[in-house]
Amino acid sequence: MRVHVAFTPAEEVSAPVGIVVDVLRATSTMAQALAAGYRRVLCCSEVDEARAVAAAEGGAVLAGERGTVVIDGFDFGNSPREFLEPSGETVVLTTTNGTRLLLAAAARCKRVLVGSLLNLDAVVREAAQSGSEDVAVLCAGVQGELAMDDAYVAGRMAAALGGGPTDSAAAAMRLAGSFATNEEGLAASQSARNLHASGLYADIAWCARESVLDVVPRFSRMVGTAAEVTL
Ligand code: MLT
Repeated sequence: MRVHVAFTPAEEVSAPVGIVVDVLRATSTMAQALAAGYRRVLCCSEVDEARAVAAAEGGAVLAGERGTVVIDGFDFGNSPREFLEPSGETVVLTTTNGTRLLLAAAARCKRVLVGSLLNLDAVVREAAQSGSEDVAVLCAGVQGELAMDDAYVAGRMAAALGGGPTDSAAAAMRLAGSFATNEEGLAASQSARNLHASGLYADIAWCARESVLDVVPRFSRMVGTAAEVTL
């Protein structure tokens, strides 16, 4: 099994198995919402699209952020701490980086899994059991740039997957090894600095918890222009 890491969405990697990572916070939120009992997350690229999908789907909760803060008129932002109790079946989610990468990966990879630290063991187990030649860990980054938090998680995943790492996977593993704790690895990122700036730093510690959710969200189908993620 060859393991590759794409540090930014611009790399446009295709692989039999793609693991999408936006640890602060989109993929952590997807894992938390589905573990809490929501049946599905519909990922949208744009705000207006999310409003239209939610209107079409009826009974969906509308969630998302721009600049880390909740979008006007939405029910929730993008903090996993807002998704501990389901208040419906469907979450329609739009975020700056993570949902857009999920949509791009769904168009290019045979199977798309959703990864974070919260479900690290579960997603690595699933990818390793896929018997696939190639697994690519796809980092959302921040506004197209490498983000230390996603690179840290990609390194943790590459180390846990084993197999034949490409140089980018080897680089991610070395990067991850340079931090003593998950929280240190996440806190050293632009994503974390953005959360501090908007007073949402409690999400960093929340998303740094490891393998506390035994779920593997995955792309299931397109619903209009939205990518459906279910367990
Ligand atoms: C994103 O998708 O851009 C991030 O998850 C942003 C955030 O949650 O603040």
